[in-house]
Amino acid sequence: MMLYLLLLPLLLLTCIFASYVHSMESSTSKCSNIPIPYPFGILGGNPAPAQGFEITCASSGPMVRINNIMFGILNISLLDGFVSILASATSQQCKRNSSFSLEGTNFTFSDTRNKFTALGCDMVAMLLNGSSGYSGGCASFCSTKSNIIDGMCSGVACCQAPVPKGLKKLELEFTNITGQLSRPKEVNNTPTCGEAFIVEQNSYVFSSVDLSNTNRNNPQYRPVVLEWSIDGGYCEEANRFMSYACKENSYCYNSSNGIGYRCNCSLGFQGNPYLQGPDGCQDIDECTIKRPCTHKCINTKGSFYCMCPAGMRGDGLKEGITGLALLLLLLVLIFWTHWLVKKRKLAKIRQRYFMQNGGMLLKQKMFSQGAPLRIFTSSELEKATNSFSDDNIIGRGGFGIVYKGILSNQMVVAIKKAQRVDQNQMEQFINELVILSQVNHKNVVQLLGCCLETELPLLVYEFITNGALFSHLQNTSVLISWEDRLRIAVETASALAYLHLATKEPIIHRDVKSSNILLDENFTAKVSDFGASRPIPHNQTHVTTLVQGTLGYMDPEYFQTSQLTEKSDVYSFGVVLIELLTRQKPISDGRTDDVRNLACHFSMLFYQNQLLEIVDSQVAEEAGTKHVKTVAQLALRCLRSRGEERPRMIEVAIELEALRRLMKQHLVLQTEEDPLLCESGQHADVNIEASSEYEP
Ligand SMILES: *[C@@H]1O[C@H](CO)[C@@H](O)[C@H](O)[C@H]1NC(C)=O
Ligand SMILES: *[C@@H]1O[C@H](CO)[C@@H](O)[C@H](O)[C@H]1NC(C)=O
Ligand SMILES: *[C@@H]1O[C@H](CO)[C@@H](O)[C@H](O)[C@H]1NC(C)=O
Ligand SMILES: *[C@@H]1O[C@H](CO)[C@@H](O)[C@H](O)[C@H]1NC(C)=O
Ligand SMILES: *[C@@H]1O[C@H](CO)[C@@H](O)[C@H](O)[C@H]1NC(C)=O
Ligand SMILES: *[C@@H]1O[C@H](CO)[C@@H](O)[C@H](O)[C@H]1NC(C)=O
Ligand SMILES: *[C@@H]1O[C@H](CO)[C@@H](O)[C@H](O)[C@H]1NC(C)=O
Repeated sequence: MMLYLLLLPLLLLTCIFASYVHSMESSTSKCSNIPIPYPFGILGGNPAPAQGFEITCASSGPMVRINNIMFGILNISLLDGFVSILASATSQQCKRNSSFSLEGTNFTFSDTRNKFTALGCDMVAMLLNGSSGYSGGCASFCSTKSNIIDGMCSGVACCQAPVPKGLKKLELEFTNITGQLSRPKEVNNTPTCGEAFIVEQNSYVFSSVDLSNTNRNNPQYRPVVLEWSIDGGYCEEANRFMSYACKENSYCYNSSNGIGYRCNCSLGFQGNPYLQGPDGCQDIDECTIKRPCTHKCINTKGSFYCMCPAGMRGDGLKEGITGLALLLLLLVLIFWTHWLVKKRKLAKIRQRYFMQNGGMLLKQKMFSQGAPLRIFTSSELEKATNSFSDDNIIGRGGFGIVYKGILSNQMVVAIKKAQRVDQNQMEQFINELVILSQVNHKNVVQLLGCCLETELPLLVYEFITNGALFSHLQNTSVLISWEDRLRIAVETASALAYLHLATKEPIIHRDVKSSNILLDENFTAKVSDFGASRPIPHNQTHVTTLVQGTLGYMDPEYFQTSQLTEKSDVYSFGVVLIELLTRQKPISDGRTDDVRNLACHFSMLFYQNQLLEIVDSQVAEEAGTKHVKTVAQLALRCLRSRGEERPRMIEVAIELEALRRLMKQHLVLQTEEDPLLCESGQHADVNIEASSEYEP
């Protein structure tokens, strides 16, 4: 301790402070005033472009060759890894082979800067992903011409969806939605061939003229943003090779599209990280650019120091304090060390809990997956929950207790506390932590952080005001419109489809049920409770696990074989769909033995044509029997006993969204008293894959 006391004033005298600035400016070749930074380069120019990044400078501007076709370049960004081109990344329903491919190039479609856009009437456009199935898509309807509004791409004649990560090829499947009853003639006159394309987001404005041109022969050029990266695997692999592209004073990062890597200048340096020498990453001279010090400033590589004149103390920064009495400082120091010793003891205890609570496992996982989580301290959470008072309890389960808490910044959170310290429960906690930290979807409860330094670990989530769907359905005094229920179904299905498709490894929720679907203040669905969830490695279609789930929702195939696949979630979702239709509990004590199970009871009534006996009368009234039947059919397809015969979650989501759109349009039409549709008294029937057979 004495040594420390002696050293500190010495340290203060040198007044060290480091700060970093960074900006980007580099001398690069240009073509028509568009900068062409290395690794891009003009053919025959200096430096020679990297392989696959050759640019031809035409009179109209720079062009890049992609699979032997030349495209005009609008912009190249060096540090974000984007290149905007003018292209026709389009696929048309009535022309078989108009596909656009980036395979074999150093480019992918950017998932953050583009939108998948489809034009057409009463069709679903789905993006295929090789033979492995669908990776996204959207549905578009036209009921009357007056519904088609220029400038609006919201599902009427034009729909948009996000572009999946890592997309290299535009391969599409269009499905006509059949079973339309009486559609007004004026719409029937519009061409029915769909078209879908990838376009820079915000740059496409829908116009009904485009709709009638979907069968055109001349391609339509639109801005498309590509992400480029350096081939050679992830950073860790790449830097072992001679061809490693990140030069001095730079670092490497994985491209977000999952293919290759890119480079950036280290803190305090600027320039082109792919170049050596004067155009490469050069030190920023903070002293002359920012003039940050009161007295002498010394620039160093990547940083700078401020020096104090002799006899003065401080950090030397303009905003720093100078001239503090040394005595006062020493006094403060003595107090501080005393306090430190006490704190150390407490910290030791907390450290022990942290370890015991899987802290090391978590740190490892967070390190390897780069999860952006906040670590809360135990005192922070104690304060937030009034020392975990019983008044703050908002939920209980087998896993633990959920408390409501208010953080010091007034943010309201939900805090989950494990009940016992057993190894199994701890693993479930860490599992939930790791899974949720990878997930970012508006219909999945957001995990904010955790605290592992208490005896029992704590997870901190965003607070969802309106509680579980289950309790809303069971409280029959509250009316929930069918429109709301259908929206909740769509939101839940799309969250599950996202978990199955869009995350690094597919995640199976494993405990889908109405009490795990929470509703926020706008009644938006948020899927929660990932304690039992499992990621499935990419090269596998299933994992074998200890059977776990909730009675009444559990997939019978999984129960028998212990093989968990994404279709187990589809089964449980089917049960939730039936709950939305009927407002009944999945396992009821009121019904006799053979009809205790809601799913069985429901399908029995369906095949006896007595569906209306069990369906909530409000639903039948609002939606009409035909519509109810379509939803029931979809639910029963989810409940098929063989997993492989059930639809995928993305297909369920798209079908439900299609039904929701049809229903909404029908409601609008009804209020307009459209004679054609009211006469039929029924809803148009979406039947993407008609099916009626059922195996018990
Ligand atoms: C080019 O990209 C830069 C940075 O991303 C952006 O500021 C600029 O507006 C873009 N220019 C054009 C013509 O798109
Ligand atoms: C590159 O580094 C700068 C400064 O260090 C930073 O602001 C920027 O976000 C980085 N870019 C990427 C794509 O990481
Ligand atoms: C369609 O594909 C065939 C065979 O791949 C090819 O010969 C033909 O030129 C293509 N047609 C168009 C219009 O691209
Ligand atoms: C597309 O398929 C590839 C390989 O089959 C897979 O790695 C990728 O995750 C899939 N992408 C989506 C969005 O489904
Ligand atoms: C959809 O309808 C269009 C126009 O009637 C037709 O050309 C196309 O073949 C249909 N597609 C399917 C898959 O039925
Ligand atoms: C670009 O892609 C090609 C083909 O995959 C590859 O041979 C080349 O090395 C890549 N270029 C760079 C700079 O990574
Ligand atoms: C790049 O991705 C690989 C594989 O996901 C991972 O192991 C590695 O840590 C990542 N590297 C960086 C710098 O993010």
